[in-house]
Amino acid sequence: MKHLIDPMDMTVEEIDHILALAIDIMANREKYSEVCKGKKLATLFYEPSTRTRLSFEAAMMELGGNVLGFSSANSSSAAKGESIADTIRTVSCYADIAAIRHPKEGAPLLASMHSSIPIINAGDGGHNHPSQTLTDLLTIKRTKGRLDNLTIGFCGDLKFGRTVHSLIKAMARYENVNFVLISPPELQVPEYLKEDVFIKKNIPYTEVVSMDEVMPQLDILYMTRVQKERFFNEADYIRLKDSYILDLEKLETAKNDLAILHPLPRVNEISVKVDDDPRACYFKQVECGKFARMALIMNLLGLDK
Ligand code: CP
Repeated sequence: MKHLIDPMDMTVEEIDHILALAIDIMANREKYSEVCKGKKLATLFYEPSTRTRLSFEAAMMELGGNVLGFSSANSSSAAKGESIADTIRTVSCYADIAAIRHPKEGAPLLASMHSSIPIINAGDGGHNHPSQTLTDLLTIKRTKGRLDNLTIGFCGDLKFGRTVHSLIKAMARYENVNFVLISPPELQVPEYLKEDVFIKKNIPYTEVVSMDEVMPQLDILYMTRVQKERFFNEADYIRLKDSYILDLEKLETAKNDLAILHPLPRVNEISVKVDDDPRACYFKQVECGKFARMALIMNLLGLDK
């Protein structure tokens, strides 16, 4: 039985297979409409979500399956003190696969150790978000036509941004990807991740504070929200929250084929005026999320053979 807790749980070949399957699903939706008939997906969300939970549920429904679950810890027996181990042992009796979002790093991994069904980490604290990574890779593949030979800039909260951590791990496995990390000093990529991903493998990366100086180099700009919910101190959040605001003026020096991604939700970090720019890909990215998750569900249930 396979789980998806960390992007490194998938080989590059498995990632490429899931992306190819997602692209086929997009082109042949009817062919896949009953693949999960009789199967159930549980969405166990201990933290708020719009895209991840609803796209998982839409994905399972489009595959002909059913969904059950909860959208906040307060509406489950976690509010009465139930452990995640007991919850997943219970849910394993009702569902065939589960997606779990939790504010504590490692909670989905713990759940997987007590589960008799595949577990997908749908975001654990400031750690990982591997199904978002499949979404991001699918968006890049469809937009740029490749996952190698790219310069990607990550901008904003690179300390707490789990989508950033997971995408860095995945992109570092493709050839000739240059990483440009744009953040205030307080929100830099954690040292452990730089050590594991870049330094040990001799992968070059640049850290800068100013977006303007690197804009002309970028093929992809991955904007992120400053993660208010992970700050211990509100004053620090208020000081840092508007560190970067992407607007049309800032894009004047960017490449014509730049792809602007954002996992969403957005707060202030991309002006709504950018939404109509052909380089804005973040709503295309939302659409990719459902298809990436359809392919992932099929893969983890062994229905993609
Ligand atoms: N991208 C993402 O994880 O969005 P939600 O928090 O809305 O699920």
